[in-house]
Amino acid sequence: VTISVAKSGGNATSGLQYGAMEEEINHCGEGGLYAELIRNRAFQGSPKFPSSLEAWSGVGDSLLSLKNLTDPLSTALPTSVNVKGSGTAGLSNAGFWGIDVRRQKYTGSFYVKGSYKGSFTASLLSSSGKILATTKITSKTVANRWVQHRFVLTPKEKSADTKNTFSLTFDGSKASSGSLDFNLISLFPPTWNDRPNGMRKDLMQAMADMGPTFLRFPGGNNLEGDSIDGRWKWNETIGPLTDRPGRATTWQYGETLGLGLVEYMEWCDDLNMEPILGVYAGLALNGDVVPEDELDFYVQDALNEIEFLTGSVDTEFGALRAKVGHPKPWKIRYVEVGNEDMLSNGLDTYKAYRFAAFNDAITAKYPDIQVLASTIDLEIPGTAGGDYHLYDNADNFVKKFNMFDNFSPKHPILLGEIAATSPLNGVDIDWSDIHFSQYPWWIGTVAEAVFLIGAERNADKVIGSTYAPFMMNLDKYQWSPTMLAFNADPDQTARSTSWHAWTLYNHNIMTNTLPATSSDSFGPLYYVTGVNSKTKSHIFKGAVYNSTSDVPVSLTFEGVGRGTKADLTILTAPGPYAMNEVGGSNIVNTQTTTIKAGKKGEFSFKLPNLSVAVLTTN
Ligand code: AHR
Repeated sequence: VTISVAKSGGNATSGLQYGAMEEEINHCGEGGLYAELIRNRAFQGSPKFPSSLEAWSGVGDSLLSLKNLTDPLSTALPTSVNVKGSGTAGLSNAGFWGIDVRRQKYTGSFYVKGSYKGSFTASLLSSSGKILATTKITSKTVANRWVQHRFVLTPKEKSADTKNTFSLTFDGSKASSGSLDFNLISLFPPTWNDRPNGMRKDLMQAMADMGPTFLRFPGGNNLEGDSIDGRWKWNETIGPLTDRPGRATTWQYGETLGLGLVEYMEWCDDLNMEPILGVYAGLALNGDVVPEDELDFYVQDALNEIEFLTGSVDTEFGALRAKVGHPKPWKIRYVEVGNEDMLSNGLDTYKAYRFAAFNDAITAKYPDIQVLASTIDLEIPGTAGGDYHLYDNADNFVKKFNMFDNFSPKHPILLGEIAATSPLNGVDIDWSDIHFSQYPWWIGTVAEAVFLIGAERNADKVIGSTYAPFMMNLDKYQWSPTMLAFNADPDQTARSTSWHAWTLYNHNIMTNTLPATSSDSFGPLYYVTGVNSKTKSHIFKGAVYNSTSDVPVSLTFEGVGRGTKADLTILTAPGPYAMNEVGGSNIVNTQTTTIKAGKKGEFSFKLPNLSVAVLTTN
């Protein structure tokens, strides 16, 4: 294939090509990125998932019972556990299907109510009962008051596996009423940037290495809730943990809301990501829709949320942000109204009044914000944009290579959820079972690359793309595949085949596309060409899908002469169905060579079948 790239004439790109998406699903936050190690730390319940003792057991013959006391720890956390036992009494937690114990500092805290004249012992124990770390905490208890106790655990060695537990014990004979009440029992390992209430380091590292430029949050279905009242309420996710009630996610478990709005923004700060904020738009997954005459409250709530994030401390909600520790306003440039409002019977009302109500109000108050509809199945008004999601088999991704060619830059499109999910080409996706392929597989990854090239060719119309869902805890997940997969052991985290391809593309961002001509049409080689005006590098991104042989490429960039050097990176894998699995080794083969332009400035190379490649001039 001979490709000639012109000097000018392409499009400026948004600069945000590859990002990340997060909603609470697959225990990606709770039991994942949110580094809390104690599962069910505050016995939070909801009508769907009532409070329970899940993950907890009594130490020895201790009796654990859930209580809704008349003087609870807080209104948001009404349920606590009463621990009754003679001698050594206490409770033990199994963590999120294990606890990673290694030589590092673990920071813990618990609240206790009751008069007790002894000390508490916090420990990390192996499955055989070996003490991996332990510390004594002098009681500061006061009868009839909740008192917080803090502690630190410092194991001397790494445990053999993660089948460890955390226990908190006390001398039952010294508790004046024979029992004590506990709540909000928490334990954190060191976190990314040492943030309190922070993020798990290995997962942040995997993202940092990918370099996502934006974060779309907090959903996804989880933003919408199963019912209108079950929606993700931003104001319940902020402030002290004692003020966060928790809620039922839409993914078969409850969340503590420890990973809340402020934590999402800090995550953006830490990884230098542009926030793409999803605001609730009056549709619940059960199909309930807020009627037009009741929508004002929700529109105002979205405005309040934006003011909370961006307003000066002189505004009502900016002041609230300062009160919870963040006087400095953040910047929000993108707001998405709802999530997949074309589903759950939402489209008619979205078209009729819901989208317009939010769009008009947000644009009037924040003219610099790019508002996005959560679908492209409507006539998008003004300069608003849309969000397109694609879950499909590999072949269908490739068929959609040209999809954005006829879109208008007037309505920029976010590709807010993208994943080749099913290895069954030619078979429609079975939405009744959303455990598709367990992990991204190589041919699916290559097909995504083809589709992403199609998007990059239209990077003036496409704001950027993110894989979804982004992460899963292999011990408890609802939807696969994901970009990253993990369990309790950070050493086993899998960066998927897609992570490798998306990362390669993301590390070679074009500021401008450049038009290319060729006598060959696209397929089996797909490509996009452009330039990065900051590094002055010319860039070719290519992917080969379903070729019977290697594809020879002769590539020239107008103005790039003989002898110019370029780095050519080619990703391949041992086979179309090869995957990167949790605990396994990386199967993606990355080969980088430096090549020189020939007499006519041509770069000559071959790309094998099922390869993903980038060439950048030096
Ligand atoms: O990414 C998983 C789900 O897929 C999201 O919650 C939803 O937006 C989409 O249907």
